[in-house]
Amino acid sequence: MFDKSLEIPIGSDHGGFDLKQFLVEKLHTEGYNIKDLGTGSIESVDYPDFIHPVAKLIQDGKNKFGIIICGSGQGASMTANKYPNVRAGLCWDVEQARLTRLHNNANIISLPGRFVSFDLALEMVKTFLNTEFEGGRHILRINKISKTL
Ligand code: RB5
Repeated sequence: MFDKSLEIPIGSDHGGFDLKQFLVEKLHTEGYNIKDLGTGSIESVDYPDFIHPVAKLIQDGKNKFGIIICGSGQGASMTANKYPNVRAGLCWDVEQARLTRLHNNANIISLPGRFVSFDLALEMVKTFLNTEFEGGRHILRINKISKTL
């Protein structure tokens, strides 16, 4: 069971703004400690400006999990995965959200704001937060991710 006292940073660009607002409100109402790092409107912005701050908190061990959103989820995950301690998983259904925790020990969930419903996104986030890493053979595999050739 996820410890709801843990702070969860969330960041998005304009493409993820509406979904972010929904998630912030719903998760807050359900007792999660969600910290909104922007963006603050649907005005066009550059997604790295709002994704780097979330990724940096995870990189530095200040927070255990984060949520990032852009229109497709692609640019957001590409940005976050530049940080060696970050494993950002792009998710579009509940099983993907479960597997990216279970097998990849993802610490950030990346959501495609323009391609998933609000309710599905909420379900994905809750599944992500409440799924434990399976460990075992997957430890070796995630340790190999940063070993580029
Ligand atoms: C913004 O229009 C869009 O490019 C951005 O939200 C994201 O999808 C990029 O990967």
